[in-house]
Amino acid sequence: AIDISKLRGESGLITLDVGFKNTGSTTSDITFLDGEKGILRHRGYSIEDLAEKSTFLEVAHLLIYGELPSATELAKFQHDISMHTLVHEDVRKIFDGFPATAHPMGVLSSLVTSLTAFHPESLDPNRNSEAVDLTIHRLLAKLPTLAAWSYKNGQGHPLVYPNNKMGYIENFMNMMFGLPTDEYEVNPAVIEALDKLLILHADHEQNCSAATVRVVGSSQASLYVSISGGINALWGGLHGGANQKVIEMLEMIKADGGDVKKYIDKAKDPNDPFRLMGFGHRVYKNFDPRAKIIKKHCDNVLNSLGVNDKTLEIAKHLEEVALQDEYFIERKLFPNVDFYSGIIYRAIGFPVDMFTVLFAIGRLPGWIAQWKESREQKQAISRPRQIYTGHTLRPYPSK
Ligand code: ACO
Repeated sequence: AIDISKLRGESGLITLDVGFKNTGSTTSDITFLDGEKGILRHRGYSIEDLAEKSTFLEVAHLLIYGELPSATELAKFQHDISMHTLVHEDVRKIFDGFPATAHPMGVLSSLVTSLTAFHPESLDPNRNSEAVDLTIHRLLAKLPTLAAWSYKNGQGHPLVYPNNKMGYIENFMNMMFGLPTDEYEVNPAVIEALDKLLILHADHEQNCSAATVRVVGSSQASLYVSISGGINALWGGLHGGANQKVIEMLEMIKADGGDVKKYIDKAKDPNDPFRLMGFGHRVYKNFDPRAKIIKKHCDNVLNSLGVNDKTLEIAKHLEEVALQDEYFIERKLFPNVDFYSGIIYRAIGFPVDMFTVLFAIGRLPGWIAQWKESREQKQAISRPRQIYTGHTLRPYPSK
């Protein structure tokens, strides 16, 4: 194994790789990805096996600690997390300061940073592993609470407290859609689909937000603020915002009379910048293995909920037509995971600005695993170089 703590660059030749498209920033044992072959594995296990056989919390344990948990380890992990689902009552006062129109991603990242104030011991970069584990449990426990509360607060509805008798997803759904006096009953097909979606989003090696978490953590900033940095990176439309764009595109097609063929032709026109949102992928060039897995859950959710929604009918129609169209077949442009996640979230009733928040809940174990690994590797502080292109020395203007 390479000891990356010894790989400290000497000054000299600087390579320029804008956007780090070809630059490895670390070694990692967490996730293997082969975009050409459509392979995604965590700690050596295929995403297909993990999605079929594991729950989200088992995958979280695998990513963070390197192994799938035994039954006893899983029970302890679940228990440790459920002991921390409540947030400090004073956090409610912070909510009061946000306008109802605040985007839930902004609220979430601010509140995750605020956890350093309630748990200041987390600021010490040299804490022992038990202390780090406590922060990990707190994050996994509190993110769904903060996420659901940021939605409820925006709606002006009463906050629903966590119920630790419920599973991870039921509890989140109850805080999102329940009332303090009335438990929310979740359709089993919805629980299953959400569990799969969280698993499918759990890690994706050195993407923009994971790399951000590592960069922030490399300065010995606390785990909370490193995760907050990841949430902010994910917020952007080019990263976590893609499934929201899918629904916005479908709404646009609906508002324009629902003519799917017209928009397929627009996407094919080389002189028209329009693209079908949710089709194609920067890394997966043949198919997105996550899309293959989630497609059947998408159908299942739509059938189980008996959703009657013109926007989602347009989505199904678009998928059928595009999958048979030579342009898309030739270029290997298939629906990606965001196409189906957007449809599922919409069918369940999540507002579009919560889509990225759901992505953040899913990606949290990956961010934690990346942060933990970089700390264990004693990663040097991230400090890229640049090629200066500005003025050479100029005389200061005389006054
Ligand atoms: N609709 C229509 N045509 C497309 C689409 C699309 N969604 N995606 C790619 N193409 C075409 C391109 O015009 C190009 O055609 P050409 O060879 O005739 O010029 C060809 O397919 C190859 O496309 P590239 O742009 O080279 O593919 P690239 O890898 O650069 O882009 C990307 C990938 C950005 C994801 C692109 O497919 C896209 O814009 N998709 C829609 C947006 C989307 O869903 N993004 C989320 C992806 S998930 C994620 O990245 C987190």
